[in-house]
Parts: sequence; C-alpha cells; structure tokens
Amino acid sequence: MTTLVIGANGQIGRQFCELARAAGEPIRAMIRDAGQQPWFETRGIETVIADLEGDFGHAFDGCDQVLFTAGSGPHTGPDKTLLIDLYGAIRAVDLARERGVARFLMVSAMRAEDPQAAPEKLRPYMAAKFAADAYLRASGVPRLILKPGRLTDEPASQRVATSLEETGGKNGVSRANVAHALEHLVRARDLVDREFVLLDGERPIAEVLA
Ligand SMILES: NC(=O)c1ccc[n+]([C@@H]2O[C@H](COP(=O)([O-])OP(=O)(O)OC[C@H]3O[C@@H](n4cnc5c(N)ncnc54)[C@H](OP(=O)(O)O)[C@@H]3O)[C@@H](O)[C@H]2O)c1
Repeated sequence: MTTLVIGANGQIGRQFCELARAAGEPIRAMIRDAGQQPWFETRGIETVIADLEGDFGHAFDGCDQVLFTAGSGPHTGPDKTLLIDLYGAIRAVDLARERGVARFLMVSAMRAEDPQAAPEKLRPYMAAKFAADAYLRASGVPRLILKPGRLTDEPASQRVATSLEETGGKNGVSRANVAHALEHLVRARDLVDREFVLLDGERPIAEVLA
C-alpha cells in the first residue's frame, strides 16, 4: 500500500516521511517545487511534483492511501486558507473517492468542530478545517482524522494524550509526536472511521491510538 503524502515538505511532513522510510513503509511525497526534491532523493523517498491549487490527479497514480498534512500556514491570508486548507482538501477527497483509495488520513486541528470558540484570528482556519473534515466524513472514503493541539517544535517523547482533561489543560503537541502518531496510523491498516485528538502526554502512541 503506497501512501501519497500531501504536504510532504512541511515540518510534520518531512519528519513523517523520514519515519515511514525508516519503517520500510512505501510513500510518495507530493511536493510543489523541484528544488525540494534533493532532500527526499538523498533519503530514497519517491517524489511527485504537484500543487493543490493546480491539477494534482497524477500524484495519486499507484497510491491507495492518502495522508493530507498540507496547510497554507500562518503567513498567508484567508484566500489561501480557503484555497488550500479547505478547497485543496476537498479536491483531494474527491480524487481519493474517484480513485478508490482505501483510506484517507486527515491532519485536522483540535476544536475544529467549533470554529466560533477559537480566537477571532483563527476562525477562518478553523472553519476551513471544520468543513474539510465534514466533507471527508460525508464522502464515504474510509478515513482517519487526527486533531493535534497547538503544534510545537519539541523533540519526540512518543508519549501522548487525547484530551485536555488528561493533560490538565496543556494544549500543545510536538510536530515530532504528530509525525510518530501518523507513522503508527499509516501502518494500522484496520483502523478506519476514527478521530483522535492528539496532545503531548504520558501514554505510548500505540496504546492511545488503538
Ligand atoms: N499550527 C498549528 O498549531 C496546527 C495545529 C493543528 C493542526 N495543524 C495542521 O498541521 C498541518 C501541518 O503542519 P506543519 O507545521 O507541518 O505545516 P507546514 O510546515 O506549514 O507545512 C505545510 C505544507 O503544506 C504545503 N502546501 C502549502 N500549499 C500547498 C499547495 N498549494 N500545494 C501543495 N502543498 C502545499 C507546504 O508546501 P511548501 O513546503 O512548498 O511550502 C508545506 O510543505 C497543517 O494541515 C495544519 O493545518 C496546525
């Protein structure tokens, strides 16, 4: 089962690709710039060049699982939130359905189910995540939705939690732990139609994401 990694050149994406490669998990990294290729090639990771704002159907060739960890990031405006976080995700789900992809793993965000509760500046992003998740749920494509809390650059502890109650209100999770969780989920083939909040915590990933 080859996994198409959309957003492979991102901070989570790169860490995930290295872990998947080390585990012998077949992946294809979708990147949008040839200048990004050497980082992947030196690690023996296959790449495909495609952009969520253009045609990207060719990226799916030969892939039967999709990991969507792309995002427009904090330095662009609501236009890119709409076109990448929302419409890019929707188009990826449509392609996954057309191609009969076995499973779609979405990196969403904690509390995306309630955009109104987010600080005003984050509401367009949360609304995009809310709608993309809803579209995936309604698509009929087997899915997993991972909802990380506030992302940090702490090293991987490989110890996580799934609720604020469990962490005493601490809302952070390292990108490294998210990458480890995704690597676990990509291999856990029998797990479908589940949704997990992910925070840094005390329990091993395999126990939490069972
Ligand atoms: N920030 C938070 O606290 C938070 C919390 C929960 C969830 N998340 C989600 O976590 C995910 C990844 O986080 P991260 O830190 O790894 O983000 P990141 O480093 O900004 O990576 C995002 C990736 O998306 C790619 N991308 C952007 N526009 C694209 C397009 N038009 N076509 C194809 N790829 C495109 C970027 O490509 P380039 O490398 O070419 O720029 C980049 O590789 C995102 O989905 C984000 O929404 C974030």
